Amino acid sequence: MRVLGIETSCDETGIAIYDSDRGLLANRLYSQAHLHAEYGGVVPELASRDHVRKVLPLIQQVLEDASLKKSDLHGIAYTAGPGLMGSLFVGGALATSMSFALNIPVLAVHHMEGHLLAPMLEAEPPSFPFIALLVSGGHTQLVHVERIGQYRLLGESLDDAAGEAFDKTAKMLGLGYPGGPILASMAEKGDWKRFRFPRPMTNRPGLDFSFSGLKTFTRNLISQNGSEGGALDQQTTCDICAGFQEAVVDTLTIKCVRALEAESLSRLVIAGGVAANTRLRDNLRSALSRLDAEVFYARQEFCTDNGAMIAFAGCQRMLAGEQSGLAVMATPRWSLDSLQPPGEIR
Ligand code: KG4
Ligand code: ZN
Repeated sequence: MRVLGIETSCDETGIAIYDSDRGLLANRLYSQAHLHAEYGGVVPELASRDHVRKVLPLIQQVLEDASLKKSDLHGIAYTAGPGLMGSLFVGGALATSMSFALNIPVLAVHHMEGHLLAPMLEAEPPSFPFIALLVSGGHTQLVHVERIGQYRLLGESLDDAAGEAFDKTAKMLGLGYPGGPILASMAEKGDWKRFRFPRPMTNRPGLDFSFSGLKTFTRNLISQNGSEGGALDQQTTCDICAGFQEAVVDTLTIKCVRALEAESLSRLVIAGGVAANTRLRDNLRSALSRLDAEVFYARQEFCTDNGAMIAFAGCQRMLAGEQSGLAVMATPRWSLDSLQPPGEIR
């Protein structure tokens, strides 16, 4: 089965074609980051307007890349949430219209299920069951994954998501947008031992997270270490980045180990934009090797938003006969554990 995937939940237009026999046939991404940079964050109205302009040319492009015609597609999967309402509607409206015109099924896909399954696009995919750490700009969740669609939430952030904490800290340090990857590259030049950030909620039982306190800690460091004008020297900025990143990575690692032990599992999947962070990947790999456990993640371009993960997740469900109706679904808030295993029309 050959599925076109359309991802427009935030500030990236991602389009891909996944074939259940041949794997990923084409994948294109258009990032709007430059458009939002001057505002320091995503402007929803600008995002949806840009998706409208980019989505069809990108679809044409992936069809060309894969040497396919529209009529070679067997289904269309689109991100229906969580995400920005206007942006979701762009992908949903186009996917549904194409399904109507081509007379093929359409499926509304959960964005975080797309992230969660993305490591399965790699050569050595994890087998079920496993623990998933979902770390993106909007979510930080630990999930017990029994199989596709059978998810049990074990813990989540009570305030900022991990990616959001990266972005807000980067903004405070004047690093620009999008902050996560910039902060991570500054951290490579820093000494993480110079400033000892707290490891929130690690000294009590449970699998929830809280990252908002790290912002206050950073704000205080900036005022204590800045010059009279408030500016930090370059090395101090790098050291704060390194200390912050180490605290987030350490906290996530402690909770992942705890979740694996509590659920008696030995496979961990990390997914979502923050899973692209190399320090997190390395730290988890060494912590888990001590437990005889394994960590799985997608290549970096499939950790951040992309169309391949939506085409893949949609294909898995469509193979089981699942499809959505012609009424466009756009659900800005949609909990992952409300999903069901692949099934019929919904
Ligand atoms: O999954 P994603 O692309 O979009 C959402 O669904 O939110 O995740 C984006 C988030 C942003 O907060 C971004 O700063 C963060 O992932 N991110 C990173 C890195 N790359 C992206 N955070 C830390 N280190 C990175 N290398
Ligand atoms: Zn995402």
